[in-house]
Amino acid sequence: APIPIPNLKSCGKALKEGSIEVDYSCCPPTPAEWNNIPYYKFPPMSKLRRRPRAQQEYIAKYQLATRRMMDLNEKDPRSFKQQANIHCAYCNGAYKFGDDVLQVHFNWLFFPFHRWYLYFYERILGKLIDDPTFALPYWNWDHPDGMRLPPMFDRRNTSLYDPRRNSHVRNGTIIDFRFGGDEEVSTDVEQTVTNNLTSVYRAMITNAACPLQFFGGRYLLGTNNTKDAGTIEKMPHTPVHMLSVARLWRMDMGNFYSAGLDPVFYSHHANVDRMWNIWKGLGGKKRDIKEEDWLNSEFFFYDEDEKPYRVRVGDCLDTRKMGYDYAPADIPWINCRP
Ligand code: C2O
Repeated sequence: APIPIPNLKSCGKALKEGSIEVDYSCCPPTPAEWNNIPYYKFPPMSKLRRRPRAQQEYIAKYQLATRRMMDLNEKDPRSFKQQANIHCAYCNGAYKFGDDVLQVHFNWLFFPFHRWYLYFYERILGKLIDDPTFALPYWNWDHPDGMRLPPMFDRRNTSLYDPRRNSHVRNGTIIDFRFGGDEEVSTDVEQTVTNNLTSVYRAMITNAACPLQFFGGRYLLGTNNTKDAGTIEKMPHTPVHMLSVARLWRMDMGNFYSAGLDPVFYSHHANVDRMWNIWKGLGGKKRDIKEEDWLNSEFFFYDEDEKPYRVRVGDCLDTRKMGYDYAPADIPWINCRP
């Protein structure tokens, strides 16, 4: 059976790696009608939101919107802290089905969960600056121009800056997708760019010839599958997280419960989401999963008006229907067959 929305009434303690408890509650405010959450319907839209590259200009709006989100009362489900807590609740064991914890990583829920998550995040930001076309910038690390932390995130004393980041991603340092967490990072720029492009080629093409390889393994109610990550999730998604954090503490980007506390998380995931669109466009067997258990899996989110909704995986397959797409950018990895 598909994964249903979690029981909102029984949201509990979240655990960091190992068995250490997160010392605050990750649970969203419980909606009054918690056992009768309506299905989400796409609101009418006038113009597509077009997500731009994060290396480009676009800074002022994004900074301002993020600042306003950070200034909301922490109890507001749209506040920055509550938005980060969504990732904690869905990935650190706050929700359970019987003895199994809900986990949206390492299985086929990875892409659709993060797509819906960003969808509402973007709408909330747009609402806070009164711009219904606001679109989240994407960190295009699949292009040599994007293999550095976009400068807008590296400016101290702005809402997009996170002081807990690692020097591995600061001051224009090239990011290395082979990074596992502890080793020194390579400084040979040319070699690193080539390796990175080859990694993307593998994750998008060689190793992702059919849907379950790309999306990750089946995850059905009662199966507790949390070891079958898809190709992009494994690399570059996870190394980019690990590169972004302080080596010892693994704070913010290095841990599920805290990743959403770094504003770059959302731009990183926008590119992960863009990879889904590009992969489907490559043709052949590269298409969405057709199994009902995937299509009918559900998540819970608050929208930009603080209204609670349930959403289906099957309703997030076409980003244009959802009201957004991506500004095109070159994909040089397509020529980087190993
Ligand atoms: Cu939910 Cu990048 O992880």
